[in-house]
Amino acid sequence: MGFKIAIAGATGNVGREMLNILSERGFPADEVVALASSRSIGTEVSFGDKTLRVHNLETYDFSDTDICLMSAGGAVSLKYSPKIGAQGCVVIDNSSAWRYDSEVPLIVPEVNPDAIDGFTKKNIIANPNCSTAQLVVALKPLHDRATIKRVVVSTYQSVSGAGKDGMDELFNQTRAVFVADPIESKKFTKRIAFNVIPHIDVFMEDGYTKEEWKVLAETKKMLDPKIKVTCTAVRVPVFIGHSESVNIEFENEITADEARDILREAPGCQVIDKHENGGYITPYESAGEDATYISRIREDATVENGLNIWVVSDNLRKGAALNAIQIAELLVNRGLIKSKKQAA
Ligand code: A2P
Repeated sequence: MGFKIAIAGATGNVGREMLNILSERGFPADEVVALASSRSIGTEVSFGDKTLRVHNLETYDFSDTDICLMSAGGAVSLKYSPKIGAQGCVVIDNSSAWRYDSEVPLIVPEVNPDAIDGFTKKNIIANPNCSTAQLVVALKPLHDRATIKRVVVSTYQSVSGAGKDGMDELFNQTRAVFVADPIESKKFTKRIAFNVIPHIDVFMEDGYTKEEWKVLAETKKMLDPKIKVTCTAVRVPVFIGHSESVNIEFENEITADEARDILREAPGCQVIDKHENGGYITPYESAGEDATYISRIREDATVENGLNIWVVSDNLRKGAALNAIQIAELLVNRGLIKSKKQAA
């Protein structure tokens, strides 16, 4: 017997992708329920060849639901996840609300699957930030081989990471440029069309942004607290797909050829690295794909054991919906969750 799954935030970018991926991967779900705010009651979303009517998260009873995939923002998650967890439904949350809670596992299945044990303390499991997810998938096999000391990452993050409104703003501004209409910026702090913005999430006291801080805190929590990480997070006018320029310093020697071979075999990774025109991946090509792509693998001669790599992935998939569903699969495959219907 299969599971009953709820998607909270089903009308959003990530929620819709969760529905697509659940259906594509044939997740063992008997019933899938779409939830959003009261604004969306009665609207419809697609699930495979079916259409689901959207219900109100606020009034939904989770007592016979097994897993809630939540992507409705941090404030909504803080309010609802504890109540949902208390009803015996495991929340896999895509927001940053629970990621740094010591009683909540933060999981990328290719990186730290064993950390999932202990999720029952709160019945909440956190999904990492989109930029961190693809970064740690690429770093983990290299760390296992040569022990990473320090990472310097610059991100090139697509507007879909800022939700539907972010995508609409890039579209509308691009159109406005061509028809010479006034440019309106509501979602982003400056114009995003034909521009880049070195600011994602709020500023912190030390001058870094919260997005930059998330990359370090989450990499340490999932991969190794000893790794030093510094980040500059930048929004770019791309609809889907985050890119990262990553400089890595290792404890031990590792050549670019060795790194290429290791990454070719690593779970979740795909290497596209030819030294010729177009022999690398761009975010446009990553959209709709599951892999974390790695290109431009080079030795950094300015440090003792250094490499530069270019990492690209679909931020709505590995950076959000796919990773959440892989966590749900991990729960099921390890027998950590039983269907409530079956238990009844
Ligand atoms: P709604 O469409 O009803 O506002 P995105 O990040 O792509 O903008 O999507 C955010 C998702 O979170 C949407 O599905 C949105 O639903 C949902 N959401 C936002 N606020 C709430 C809320 N208070 N309760 C339930 N769902 C919410």
